[in-house]
Amino acid sequence: MGLRKIIAEAYTMITQKRVPPAADRNKSFIYKILKKLLPNEKNLLALEIASGSGLHVGYLANKFPNITWTPSDIDQEQWPSLLAYKADHKNINDPVNIDVSTFYKDWEVKFEPGSFHLILNINMIHITPWQTTQGLFRNGGALLHKDGILVTYGPYSKNQQLTPDSNVEFNKRLQAENPAWGIRDINDLSDESREYGLYLAEEYELPANNKILIFRRNNCLG
Ligand SMILES: C[S@@+](CC[C@H](N)C(=O)[O-])C[C@H]1O[C@@H](n2cnc3c(N)ncnc32)[C@H](O)[C@@H]1O
Repeated sequence: MGLRKIIAEAYTMITQKRVPPAADRNKSFIYKILKKLLPNEKNLLALEIASGSGLHVGYLANKFPNITWTPSDIDQEQWPSLLAYKADHKNINDPVNIDVSTFYKDWEVKFEPGSFHLILNINMIHITPWQTTQGLFRNGGALLHKDGILVTYGPYSKNQQLTPDSNVEFNKRLQAENPAWGIRDINDLSDESREYGLYLAEEYELPANNKILIFRRNNCLG
């Protein structure tokens, strides 16, 4: 076991906070893009779908003190770590149990339509069946504020071309683990988002062959 892993595990034992290596590596790149996109206003609301450990919400709550963050996940085994990150910040709400493939009106937690300025989803789309992504767009279309953004981070193909070879290999491993999983194509995501009143507004290249996609509400649809 490498020294980095030993330190991360000791840290988790003491604090309950899990430190997934990928999340630890990508957090600052995600922050830099969000900083460009979010207005510096008070009382903004953010919902994170599939928060996992809570590392991102803890990091971002510190960087964006004017935003109130609600972390969520389908997997309640994440709660001790999520609660430990939440405990450090006044602007993080309790984590909520959300299966994003279901519609928000059926969730235990009740949200007002159009209430979130940011919906954040990191590294979920390729590790879940397509219905989960459809749910992300369906709920995003309903819950995003008219000027809000749905931000997704992960690996994607474009025009059905998946590059580089490391992503092709990664996709094979994902599909061997679960044939319903897999790296999605940006054009398919763009088309699907339109079904729910959203559109793909921007794409950003990030390190390690990942991208950030920004979806906005198509307010022309009313
Ligand atoms: C690879 S982890 C990413 C976690 C975190 N966003 C990160 O980047 O470290 C994928 C997450 O998706 C969550 N997930 C899977 N299916 C889901 C669903 N239907 N609704 C909400 N979350 C889901 C899992 O529980 C897991 O925490």
